[in-house]
Amino acid sequence: MKQNRVAATLFALLVAGIGSSVGAPPNCRYLPGDAEWPSPAAWAELNQTVGGRLIASRPLGRPCFEPGVDAAECAVTKAEWTFLDTYLKDPVHVMSPYWMNNSCSPFLGPSGECALGNIASYAINVNNAQDAVAGVRFAQANNVRLTIKNTGHDFLGRAAGAGSLALWTRNLKEVTYLNRYRGCNYTGPAARLGAGVQHADLYPAENRGRRFRVVAGSCATVGVTGGFTQGGGHSALSSKYGLSADQVLEWEVVTADGKHITASPSEHSDLYWALRGGGAGNYAVAISMTVKAYPDGQVAGAGFAFANEDGTTYWAAVSAFFRHLLVLDKLDGYVSGFTITALGFSLVFALAPDAKSEDDISGPLAPFFAELQALNVTVTNNRASLHPNYASWFDAFAGQVEYSTNNSVGGRLIPRTVVQDDLPSLVAALRDIAENSTTVGGSAINGVSVNVTEARIGAAAVPGASAVLPAWRDALFTLNFGIPLAEDAEWDVMRTGQRWINEKQDRLRAVTPGGGSYMNEATFDNANWKEDYFGVNYEALRAVKDKYDPEGLFWANAAVGSDASWQPAADGRLCRVQ
Ligand SMILES: Cc1cc2nc3c(=O)[nH]c(=O)nc-3n(C[C@H](O)[C@H](O)[C@H](O)COP(=O)(O)OP(=O)(O)OC[C@H]3O[C@@H](n4cnc5c(N)ncnc54)[C@H](O)[C@@H]3O)c2cc1C
Ligand SMILES: *[C@@H]1O[C@H](CO)[C@@H](O)[C@H](O)[C@H]1NC(C)=O
Ligand SMILES: *[C@@H]1O[C@H](CO)[C@@H](O)[C@H](O)[C@H]1NC(C)=O
Ligand SMILES: *[C@@H]1O[C@H](CO)[C@@H](O)[C@H](O)[C@H]1NC(C)=O
Ligand SMILES: *[C@@H]1O[C@H](CO)[C@@H](O)[C@H](O)[C@H]1NC(C)=O
Ligand SMILES: *[C@@H]1O[C@H](CO)[C@@H](O)[C@H](O)[C@H]1NC(C)=O
Ligand SMILES: *[C@@H]1O[C@H](CO)[C@@H](O)[C@H](O)[C@H]1NC(C)=O
Ligand SMILES: *[C@@H]1O[C@H](CO)[C@@H](O)[C@H](O)[C@H]1NC(C)=O
Repeated sequence: MKQNRVAATLFALLVAGIGSSVGAPPNCRYLPGDAEWPSPAAWAELNQTVGGRLIASRPLGRPCFEPGVDAAECAVTKAEWTFLDTYLKDPVHVMSPYWMNNSCSPFLGPSGECALGNIASYAINVNNAQDAVAGVRFAQANNVRLTIKNTGHDFLGRAAGAGSLALWTRNLKEVTYLNRYRGCNYTGPAARLGAGVQHADLYPAENRGRRFRVVAGSCATVGVTGGFTQGGGHSALSSKYGLSADQVLEWEVVTADGKHITASPSEHSDLYWALRGGGAGNYAVAISMTVKAYPDGQVAGAGFAFANEDGTTYWAAVSAFFRHLLVLDKLDGYVSGFTITALGFSLVFALAPDAKSEDDISGPLAPFFAELQALNVTVTNNRASLHPNYASWFDAFAGQVEYSTNNSVGGRLIPRTVVQDDLPSLVAALRDIAENSTTVGGSAINGVSVNVTEARIGAAAVPGASAVLPAWRDALFTLNFGIPLAEDAEWDVMRTGQRWINEKQDRLRAVTPGGGSYMNEATFDNANWKEDYFGVNYEALRAVKDKYDPEGLFWANAAVGSDASWQPAADGRLCRVQ
């Protein structure tokens, strides 16, 4: 093997002498253009193996570049550039502008380079486990980087990779409701969800209220089985049932050695454990997961807003909200999503699942309104309503949030003890983020309050029951803060923004000692990522990684073991850590 590589390198050097491709550096993954990069015939053979579902990547911005500018197509590409849907339907492009890095930005044509950059070179449109097996084997055999792309929401650059073969899982849309699943420690309703399932796939119009509820994101487009559940997964239903990782009964996966297996409490239980909260795209390729499902029922919802008319009063009102969250925390199933900016506060959604009337949500909020009144703060857009089922609550509240892709984020889990004992320090840090962000374009802080304690959801929340970061159990809410990036923001602007986010994340870290961060809504380059994202689970996760993927076929930023196996070079090429 090693000898072959030396021979290949020598041969490549000779070839290079006559002006063709050169050999890859030793101990690195191959990139297109390397002499060792698989031949067209090898790709064609892979294509046959996967039933013609191999796709050669084409930069989305291609129509905006010479040669062959297509003005009409370019205009459409520009208009849709920050729409989530653009990235959902594409096999390789990802939402994060930081990771797209203007490699073929439609706003920077028509001259200059239109390259794939960090985006995968090929994708397999995965239709079944055998497609994933073929991709894994091909990447192993040909020393090509492997990535997994589902929806492309990932902020940490984990769904892309220069010169990679991507497994595109988005079309694995199975949703099978099982009335009576019999598992190790659970008997009851369940749902088997393919790796590409999103919120809308769970609640098709004809089934609303007649089937079950399943824990899924409060953003409708996030994939359920991919990065979401593998990283933890917070949902509007989390204070009722727990995080998404807490729901999993079994995983159907393809491992790094190309085996199609089940990971459950009784088979490969260590892998089953790691996949529940231990981080995305790092241990195996998920083909499907089976999760607990729950009977649906009425849901009450509420929301309101107030403006920042006077700084002192405004931040006092925000502080009062946090204090009141300590009370709402005890209300069964209460989750709220809120946004704080320098301009105002908005309770985007709140819910009381299994409510009898809208009073079940407006009642518990009333004492907070009394506090606002005492502060002379005027409440606007105050609304409360009762819905026949979870999906119709979702449409009215969480589904109303508009998302665009032009941002970068950081985040932190906020422990209850900090709100109880050190609220002024927390609020000062948030005020700094909201008010000092003008230099980076105005930051919004988004919080989601949850109660995922053992007291609320039982054994699944016991430390060690899953690989979920224990700080989740102590958190009153998780927050992320995003900075907007103009569509044509240059690399230096994005890099400066990233540095700013890390600085503010560090400030939040300082006021939340012993806390942690939700890895899916934080930075890839947080110096304390091991502790903040994995905590006490890190070493046990490392053992699972070493057992199931000793060669590091799966590699991602801020993933367990990533710093010890491969590191990206300046051109994005992965090279072995010596
Ligand atoms: C607009 C927006 C809203 C969000 N809202 C929420 C929310 O409400 N709750 C919440 O918890 N999080 C939320 N997130 C964060 C979200 O959980 C992460 O971005 C998550 O990584 C998305 O997973 P995905 O599979 O959809 O996306 P992708 O970007 O496609 O994948 C993310 C990671 O998962 C890996 N992966 C994907 N599929 C598989 C698979 N089948 N097997 C193994 N690895 C896989 C990928 O390799 C990558 O590392 C939100 C993010 C955005 C951008
Ligand atoms: C794979 O085969 C299909 C069907 O023949 C073809 O349409 C597609 O272009 C091929 N993919 C690549 C990368 O050549
Ligand atoms: C983005 O591109 C610049 C060059 O324009 C490069 O220096 C930088 O490393 C790239 N960053 C990422 C994350 O791709
Ligand atoms: C099943 O329940 C038993 C008893 O509560 C517990 O010891 C065991 O860890 C549980 N197994 C799993 C996989 O949750
Ligand atoms: C609120 O307004 C009333 C009447 O304008 C005033 O008397 C009271 O002092 C104000 N309270 C606060 C906390 O500002
Ligand atoms: C904004 O930043 C400046 C400079 O670091 C600091 O002095 C000020 O206190 C910050 N503002 C807030 C609201 O924290
Ligand atoms: C969480 O919910 C449980 C059960 O409803 C409740 O007893 C508890 O007070 C809440 N908060 C904490 C910190 O456990
Ligand atoms: C980000 O995109 C949204 C939606 O397209 C747009 O309204 C907003 O102005 C953009 N922000 C920046 C900073 O360009």
